[in-house]
Amino acid sequence: MESQRSPLFLALLLPVTLYSCLLQCRGLPSANTEDIRKLYIVYMGEKQHEDPELVTALHHDTLASVLGSKDAALDSIVYSYKHGFSGFAAMITVLQAKQVSGLPGVRSVTQSRRIKPTTTRSWDFLGLSIKNPPSKLLHKAKMGDGIIIGVIDTGVWPESKSFRDDGLGPIPSRWKGTCQTGQLFNASHCNRKLIGARWYDKAVPRSVLKGEYRSARAASNQHGTHTASTAAGSIVKGRTSFFGLGAGVARGGAPRARVAVYKVLWGDYGGDTATLVAAIDDAVGDGVDVMSLSLAGGPATPNTAADSWASLHAVKRGISVVYGAGNDGPRPGTLTNALPWVITVAASTIDRSFPTVITLGDNSTIVGQAVYYRTKKGDDSFKELYYNASSCDEDTLNATEVRGKIALCNMGDDPDKQFVIAAVNVFRAGGAGLIFARYTTNILTPLPDLPYVVVDLESRFKILDYAQRTSREPLVKVSPTRSVPSDSFTPRVAAFSSRGPSAALPAVLKPDIAAPGVQILAAVKDSYEFMSGTSMATPHMSGVVALLKCLHPTWSPAAIKSAIVTTASTIDQYGIPIVAEGVPRKIADPFDYGSGNINPDRAVDPGLVYDINPRDYEEFKCFWDESEACKATQQPMYHLNLPSIAIPNLKSSVTIFRTVTNVGAAKSIYKAIVESPPGINIEVMPKILQFDDRTKVQRFKINFTTMHKMQGVYTFGSLTWVDGIHTVRIPIAIRVVIEELFADVQ
Ligand SMILES: *[C@@H]1O[C@H](CO)[C@@H](O)[C@H](O)[C@H]1NC(C)=O
Ligand SMILES: *[C@@H]1O[C@H](CO)[C@@H](O)[C@H](O)[C@H]1NC(C)=O
Ligand SMILES: *[C@@H]1O[C@H](CO)[C@@H](O)[C@H](O)[C@H]1NC(C)=O
Ligand SMILES: *[C@@H]1O[C@H](CO)[C@@H](O)[C@H](O)[C@H]1NC(C)=O
Repeated sequence: MESQRSPLFLALLLPVTLYSCLLQCRGLPSANTEDIRKLYIVYMGEKQHEDPELVTALHHDTLASVLGSKDAALDSIVYSYKHGFSGFAAMITVLQAKQVSGLPGVRSVTQSRRIKPTTTRSWDFLGLSIKNPPSKLLHKAKMGDGIIIGVIDTGVWPESKSFRDDGLGPIPSRWKGTCQTGQLFNASHCNRKLIGARWYDKAVPRSVLKGEYRSARAASNQHGTHTASTAAGSIVKGRTSFFGLGAGVARGGAPRARVAVYKVLWGDYGGDTATLVAAIDDAVGDGVDVMSLSLAGGPATPNTAADSWASLHAVKRGISVVYGAGNDGPRPGTLTNALPWVITVAASTIDRSFPTVITLGDNSTIVGQAVYYRTKKGDDSFKELYYNASSCDEDTLNATEVRGKIALCNMGDDPDKQFVIAAVNVFRAGGAGLIFARYTTNILTPLPDLPYVVVDLESRFKILDYAQRTSREPLVKVSPTRSVPSDSFTPRVAAFSSRGPSAALPAVLKPDIAAPGVQILAAVKDSYEFMSGTSMATPHMSGVVALLKCLHPTWSPAAIKSAIVTTASTIDQYGIPIVAEGVPRKIADPFDYGSGNINPDRAVDPGLVYDINPRDYEEFKCFWDESEACKATQQPMYHLNLPSIAIPNLKSSVTIFRTVTNVGAAKSIYKAIVESPPGINIEVMPKILQFDDRTKVQRFKINFTTMHKMQGVYTFGSLTWVDGIHTVRIPIAIRVVIEELFADVQ
């Protein structure tokens, strides 16, 4: 049943799913579009009955009124959403979809869309060490015991040591989920760690299911095993490593939290939003506390993306929802999953370095970065260097000449894409290895079948200089990578991490925060492998959310998010500002990492929180209500009580309000410290907030006035409340727009 795909191909897909999509997303033949039945998602708001059967009956009646009979309705319904909210997904034509949208009780009808998936040392790096000195959060929070994390992904490999339940107490009694059986997955594959499993194959093309397990077991794509073990993997004793690299104790962020997996993504295909919504609905009904979603959809606005209302219903029930920001950085405005009620996570690097030594035929050495382990004897001996192809694409690489040699390839216009192309071409031509030259090196994909190393452009010139000077055949040797955890290595925002501003909701500052997402070692089948992506940053955040929920069970998802956001770090351990990888490399700003890099130990005790009643989200934006009445009362979203401020269109001045709730010592006095964006005057009133036994909540006013007439440029600042113990910092992004008719596309 295992997919026969080569490991090289699989490894290449994980962090750069975009390219697999470029290769595989063919346009559908256009036929008689009127008659074609497609999968539509019908949203009907809050469910009207507690009894799921009554809710389902309503769905059947609703659809029958358009299709003409109950049988036809039953035949076309694919999912009924009945636990967290009311709605259904059905195969209907575009005309029928229009008719359904006019029915009473129907709030929106949208077409289902494709979605795609977007550690050992990483936790120590966050200060959550199990060894000395003990982490405050990890131990205070009993390692997340009793909290249930729902991981919506590609399924799971249940035999992994990361899902052992040794020493765990009984399954929390409020758990209402199930261990759905299927191919090579029976009830005994669930335990007190992996407490639930469901799988959804109804809307997946039959061709995709070939080679997949028809169960919650992950097959060709182990992404879900990796993310679930990152969020809540048990502590695995002994040395866990990937061929000797990154050795250490493996564990997830909340090692005593429980995991429920929902398999909605299949192989390289991914899944669709109708299925994602079904999984969110089930997870709400099952009783998860945190939902971890390492996936992203195609272009859909928050108004039309079905998972946006599904996730809002989850948040209304106190469930925290965590999404990845996407892997389309460093280009600005590429961020996805920008909903104000979810936590949107960017990816940062961790303190691990993978130096790989290259020795040239004249015995000089150059150091690059790689994840390369010796596959065969002799791989690390001198080989002939092939350096005639610039980027090693089809036009420049001579397949005959590269056979048995190590190829030197250059990055071209798009380093990420070119790396994949070069690796595939050199591998297929029987090359002995790859030296890839590029400007930034933080995407290191393991290539089990091909020794490789990434070097900077200076090193490329040294190698070329040697090759052109030598009178003999140029030789080169790549030594296996060593792993050097180094205190001098500081966090950076990964180049691939999608950047703000949110094109869909510019008045919501996104991403919220950054967490480790580069070279994360976590479970893949019975072993451990490195993966990179905001997909890996997401479960890191979910693990921290689980720990905070354990400590503060009454806090709302907004309060937990606020605690995490307001305590993030913008500087490294030496007090130097965190850098964002990209072209050019620069000091990170809120569009790279939101409020900064996650700092779990400080999030335990944030002092003040910016809380939000979930009802407010809809008041500030007519998400699923296109009526003029709604639009007339609508206010800009920067008035939402978020722990960040983004004003995308400041004309002369704007005043907003924020409310903070004291969760620290009852008697405390906070003072405002403002760091104004250049050219913007910020006034906070009052500048001092006093709290006591009776005053827990304080409202304050912030007035923004532009001092310049510069058009269309974002500038950044922050507002911090300090009481001598806590620093409650929120980021600010402001764009001045003087002329109405303006586009930032010069
Ligand atoms: C479940 O599967 C395991 C391993 O595949 C097998 O050993 C066990 O007998 C099965 N249990 C049941 C109840 O079928
Ligand atoms: C490189 O070093 C090896 C081992 O030390 C030595 O045998 C060889 O002659 C050296 N080659 C050159 C070109 O210096
Ligand atoms: C590739 O290299 C071989 C051997 O050097 C040569 O015969 C052949 O013409 C080259 N092919 C191209 C397309 O240049
Ligand atoms: C903000 O402050 C400026 C300068 O003090 C003032 O002119 C403006 O009216 C204020 N704006 C609002 C909306 O209160």
